[in-house]
Amino acid sequence: MKNTARLIAIISLSASVASCCQAPKSEGPVYLDDSQPIEARVEDALSRMTLEEKVKVIHAQSKFSSAGVPRLGIPELWTTDGPHGIRPEVLWDEWDQAGWTNDSCVAFPALTCLAATWNEDMSALYGKSIGEEARFREKDILLGPGVNIYRTPLNGRNFEYMGEDPYLASRMVVPYVQEVQKNGVAVCVKHYALNNQESKRHEYDAVVDDRTLYEIYLPAFKAAVQEGGAWSIMGAYNFYKGQHACHNEYLLNDILKGEWGFDGVVISDWGGTHETDQAITNGLDLEFGTWTDGLTMGATNGYDAYYLADPYLEKLRNGTASEDVLDDKVRRVLRLMFRTAMNNDKPAGSMCSPEHYDAARKIAGEGIVLLKNDNDVLPIDLSSAGKIAVIGENAIKMMTVGGGSSSLKAQHECTPLEGLIAAAGDRIVYERGYVGDVSGSYNGVVTGQDLSESRSEEQLIADAVALAKTADAVIFVGGLNKASHQDCEDSDRYHLELPYAQDKVIEALAEANPNLAVVIISGNAVAMPWIDNVNAVVEGWYIGSQMGHALADVLFGKVNPSGKLPFTFPAKLEDNGAHALNAYDPADLSVEYKEGIYVGYRWAEKQNIKPLFAFGHGLSYTDFTYGDAECAKASVKAGSNVTVSVDVTNSGKVAGKEVVQLYIGDDESSVDRPVKELKGFRKISLEPGETKTVTFTIEPDMLKYFDAAKHEWVLENGKFTAYVGSASDDIRTTVQFEVR
Ligand code: BGC
Repeated sequence: MKNTARLIAIISLSASVASCCQAPKSEGPVYLDDSQPIEARVEDALSRMTLEEKVKVIHAQSKFSSAGVPRLGIPELWTTDGPHGIRPEVLWDEWDQAGWTNDSCVAFPALTCLAATWNEDMSALYGKSIGEEARFREKDILLGPGVNIYRTPLNGRNFEYMGEDPYLASRMVVPYVQEVQKNGVAVCVKHYALNNQESKRHEYDAVVDDRTLYEIYLPAFKAAVQEGGAWSIMGAYNFYKGQHACHNEYLLNDILKGEWGFDGVVISDWGGTHETDQAITNGLDLEFGTWTDGLTMGATNGYDAYYLADPYLEKLRNGTASEDVLDDKVRRVLRLMFRTAMNNDKPAGSMCSPEHYDAARKIAGEGIVLLKNDNDVLPIDLSSAGKIAVIGENAIKMMTVGGGSSSLKAQHECTPLEGLIAAAGDRIVYERGYVGDVSGSYNGVVTGQDLSESRSEEQLIADAVALAKTADAVIFVGGLNKASHQDCEDSDRYHLELPYAQDKVIEALAEANPNLAVVIISGNAVAMPWIDNVNAVVEGWYIGSQMGHALADVLFGKVNPSGKLPFTFPAKLEDNGAHALNAYDPADLSVEYKEGIYVGYRWAEKQNIKPLFAFGHGLSYTDFTYGDAECAKASVKAGSNVTVSVDVTNSGKVAGKEVVQLYIGDDESSVDRPVKELKGFRKISLEPGETKTVTFTIEPDMLKYFDAAKHEWVLENGKFTAYVGSASDDIRTTVQFEVR
C-alpha cells in the first residue's frame, strides 16, 4: 500500500516537475517547490486542501501510517518503533509482523546503555546509525528516543530511557535527535510526560508539584525540543491533572507549544486518545492506535471512527468546532511532511552496514559499567587463562525479541556465550545454572531458540558449582530479561531482587571459586545480597546485536570499561524515595510523587543513605588522580558564567577513559535544595601518565531552582560549591564560589 501511494506521489510529483521544466519554476505550485521556505509551502498546501482532506491527515490509516493527500501528490507518513532499532514491518491493521524477509535490522544497545556512556559523541553516533536504518526502510518518523525519568527501579520500561538525572538525559538526548533528523527522519520523543511506571499506565494520574515537574521530569523533553529541534513528540498514556497526557492542556498547549514554542507534531501514543473534544482543543495533532468502537481487526473503515476522524468532521461541518484549530494541526503535519517524506534532499540511508555493527559495539564498549573489581578479577588475561566457566541463562538467551514495542528482528544477535567463545575459543565451558524465561517470540518474530531444560534447580546449581571448581575463572551471566514483570513494557517488576534462583546460584559459585565475575544483563537496578562475597560485578545492559562481542571486549580487557551508572542502585527498595514514602503502588490510580525533586541520588544524599552503587559510579582497569578544582573567579556578578577547572591524570598502567563529573550545591539557598546536582560532565581519554585539564563553564541557568509560585526559574545570590569527581559518591575535589 505504502509503495502504491508513494508511486502515485512520485507520478504526481514528476508531472509537476515536467511542467516545471516547461514553465518558469515560480509558476508551479509553491508547495512542490523546494526552493521556497517551508512555511510558504505549508500555507500553499493548506490552502489547496478540502476539509475532508485536512481531517484525513490527522489520524492513522493503518497501525503505523497516516494518510497523505494523493490528489496533491502529498505522500503518507510512516512511523516505526524505536528506540533501539527499526521494528519489523507489521500487517496493515495489526501488531503482528508481516513476515517480510528484508526487514531485519541492527539492534543497537538499549538507551540505558547509551546513557551510561556519558558521552555525547556516542549519542550522535547512535542517532546517525539508527537514523540511517530508518531512512533506508523509508520511515518518516522514528518512535523514540525515550527520556522518562527513572523514578523507581520497578518500572518495567526503564531500559528504554536515559536514567534518573534530568541534566544527563538532556545532554544525551540532543545529539541523538539531531543526528536522526539529518536523515530526513523525524524523531518522536516519548512519552511526554510523567509515564514513570507501566502499572496502570492508561489509568493512573501522576500527581506532581510544578517545581518537581519543571526541575526533574521536563528538562530532557525541553532539551530535545529546543536544542535538538525534535520534529515530533509522543503524548504519554497516563493522566496528569485529570486529563490524559495525549490531550492535556497544561502539558501540550501551555508548556510544550506555549512556553517552549514547539512547532512540530504531537502524536498520541498508540491508544492514548480518549475523546474528541479534548483531542481537538488540548494539543493533540495526530492520532494513532486508537481502538475505537467499530474497529475490529482488519476493518478498513475503522480509522474513520477515530476521535480525530468522522466525529471531528461532523463537528467541523455543524460549526461546533473551528477550522482554525484544525488548520493548526494540519500545518504541523504538513511541516513534518516537508521535513521528512517530501524532503528531496535527504540521504538514501543504509541498513545492517558494517559501520552500524561497529557503532553498536563501540557504544556498548563505552556503556558497560564495571561496578566492582576487587583483587583485579577482571580483565581475564587470555594469555594465561585456562578453562573459563560461563554460567547462567542470560549467556545463551537472545534478548532482542520481547520487552514490548522495542522488540526487534535483528539480522544477527551475538549472545554473550557466542561472543566469549569467539574471543576465547574452546577454553569456554558452559553450564545453565538456572532456568528463567524459556519463551522467545514477540508479535510473530521468533528467536528459534530451544531453551527447554529438564534438570531440577538443585541439579542445575550442583552442575554449575562442579564446573566452577575446575575453572580458572568463572563468568556468571544473569540478571533480568524481556519477559513480563522483568524489563518489559506494560508491566512493572514485582521486586528489586533477581528473579529465579539466581541469588542461590551466585552464592554457590562465589564459594566454589573466588575468581568469579557476575554480569548483570538488565535495564534496571537489582539487589545484590551476595555482594560482599563476589569480587567482580559488571552491569552489561541489553546491548542488542553486538551483545556478546562487546561483553567479551570488556571482560578480556580489549576495551577498558568507562561506563558510569545513569541511575542509582539502591541496596534495598526502601532506599529509593518513591518507595520510602510509599508513593508507588502498582494498584494506585492516583500516584503522588511525594518524594518531589528527591529522585535517585538526590534522595540518597538528602537521607544520607549509602547506595549499593551510586549514580555516576563506574570503575576502570586503570586509576585516575584528580588535582584541585579551581575557579577562575571566586566571586562573580549574578548573570556571569563561572569557570571551574581540574587536572585529571591517568595514574595507572593502561590507557583509559574517565568521565569527569561536576555537581553543584547551593550552600545558602532560601529553599530546600538537593545536596548537589549534576551540571556538567566530560569524558576524556588518557594514556598512562597523561594529564588533561578539564574546564567546565557553569552558566547562570544551571544555578537556578524553579519557583512554582512565581512560575519562573530563580537564581539566588550567595555561596555555591562545585563538587568534581568520578561518581556522585566519589567526589575528589571541591571549590566554592560566590554569586553577588
Ligand atoms: C508504546 C509506544 C510505542 C507504540 C507503538 C505503545 O504501546 O507505548 O512507545 O511507540 O506502542 O508501538
